[in-house]
Amino acid sequence: MSDRIPLIAANWKMNFTISEALKFVTSFIHELKAIGEAEVVIAPPATALYSTGIALSETGFKLAAQNMYWEDNGAYTGEISGPFIKDLGCEYVIIGHSERRKIFGETNDMISKKVASALRNDLVPILCIGETLEEHENNKTWEICEFQLKTALSNISLKNIDNFVIAYEPIWAIGTGKTATPAQANEVHAMVRNWLSKIYDVTVAQRTRILYGGSAKAGNSRELLSQKDIDGLLVGGASLNPLEFANIIRNIPVEKVNH
Ligand code: PGA
Repeated sequence: MSDRIPLIAANWKMNFTISEALKFVTSFIHELKAIGEAEVVIAPPATALYSTGIALSETGFKLAAQNMYWEDNGAYTGEISGPFIKDLGCEYVIIGHSERRKIFGETNDMISKKVASALRNDLVPILCIGETLEEHENNKTWEICEFQLKTALSNISLKNIDNFVIAYEPIWAIGTGKTATPAQANEVHAMVRNWLSKIYDVTVAQRTRILYGGSAKAGNSRELLSQKDIDGLLVGGASLNPLEFANIIRNIPVEKVNH
């Protein structure tokens, strides 16, 4: 049995105004009173971070930003930095989501600077990695994931990797209704863990939580979360419905919640 606390994160993407976010929180809190020993993190759009954070403040549920810039302040019109999202009450930040990489041209180098900045600002990065359908079909899954990990973590030493989350999100499974099979996902997770133990050490590998993302929902979450190396989920579409999201959390296998 592992001592990694399961983590379920909601990535709302560009959805929910402030009032919609607050409505979600009200229903979600009503739905889910006890979560056992699990961590629940919500990543609203930047505009709803503050109000969602206030609404979550007495609940034990945590707040994440969906993105950040790597400089702390200065002439970077439109950007939001680590100290700013920390100021809004964020404990986590999603970095390198495939939509950021593909639509907004984020490179591995930019992602590496964001990871370093998150750690410097005492934010826990949720670093997203994952391959495209073409790469998947050409058996390049691990090659791609390893390269993304290697570049993102190139400047991160053993002493700075204290609290870190990795999300494996096969791009072909995001928002498509196609999920990697639990066994397929677990295989990649195990390779990530093995890589961490080689590059850092066994303690880091055993402590780092590796989430799966890509069409995760209440209907498949129990099976995904039953896999040995799947420590949680990063949920997009299914996190917009409070009941569905609560059911995903209820589906964490009991042996992973009660150590
Ligand atoms: P999805 O998105 O659950 O809608 O597939 C997951 C993600 O992009 O993080």
